[in-house]
Amino acid sequence: MSSTAPYTVRRSRQQMVRDVRKGLTDSPKRLSSKYFYDERGSQLFEQITDLPEYYLTRAERALLQRVVTGLIDELAPCTLVELGAGSATKTRIILDAMIAKGAGVSYAPIDVSRDFLESAAAILQLQYPNVEITPVVSDITEAFTLAATTPPVLFAFLGSTIGNFPREPAVVLLSHVAKLMEPGDAFLLGADLRKDANVLHAAYNDSQGVTAAFNLNLLDRLNRELGANFPLDQFEHRAFYSMEHHRIEMHLVAREPMVVTIPEIGQVNFYSGETIRTELSYKYDRATLEGILADSGMKLEKWIPDEGNVFALAVARVAR
Ligand code: AVJ
Repeated sequence: MSSTAPYTVRRSRQQMVRDVRKGLTDSPKRLSSKYFYDERGSQLFEQITDLPEYYLTRAERALLQRVVTGLIDELAPCTLVELGAGSATKTRIILDAMIAKGAGVSYAPIDVSRDFLESAAAILQLQYPNVEITPVVSDITEAFTLAATTPPVLFAFLGSTIGNFPREPAVVLLSHVAKLMEPGDAFLLGADLRKDANVLHAAYNDSQGVTAAFNLNLLDRLNRELGANFPLDQFEHRAFYSMEHHRIEMHLVAREPMVVTIPEIGQVNFYSGETIRTELSYKYDRATLEGILADSGMKLEKWIPDEGNVFALAVARVAR
């Protein structure tokens, strides 16, 4: 396995150079939010999930804890396939419920980061010696394949990561999942809901500046990994809610005109106030998600919002 790692690293680095070149020569400038999650970025995101303003993670966890037993009773999965293997906390909630049912359990986390995936899998394996854990290194935005899985399979895509994708890319991604699903399988989706713009604004503009640091780390990563020379103190975090698009947009704003050099890409000019869009985070209602699922070849079977209509879990089946 280790012999393929350098190849993976090289390939993903080249992909990153291509993506960065495309995004920074485009107008308006943009960078993909998938590049937030290097080691430092993943740490900062963990800190975000503990912020008083960032309600998403707590809301989803509480909801999942409340309904997981009923869900697992009903879906009776033997395999959990987790897209974008996120925090082990959510994984544990689901695995514990599966194990409590008494069936044999296997778990396949899918993530782009081999290092992250393998260390997370190793830690989980210690706590769940009887669970067969098969990590899959893959970019979930591309079609992926799985090793043989024991049905029924529960595909889980939690944390409202779906929110990073505009409608069409979201449909492409969920279509990949639908293609892997058999009639007895189920899809569990976590989605942040539309709500008071002030609440949303606060969640992405926390008073401790952790979200700002998370956003700026993207430029720091380009400095570290691509040898770019972004002056971090000359960029400012900006996040706002667009009522029209039902989404948070995060940007990095150049405080003054500047020229940045990225060796493999060249010079990138910024005018004063120019922004790089770094993330979209869509907020949903039931009808919108039902439509996205339908276009992806799935049928919404269950809509489970929490009491405050803050966050929802959706359960879908393949429409075949
Ligand atoms: C992990 C994509 C769900 O959109 O809320 C947190 C990432 N960005 N604060 C989100 C994020 C800024 C997060 N997701």
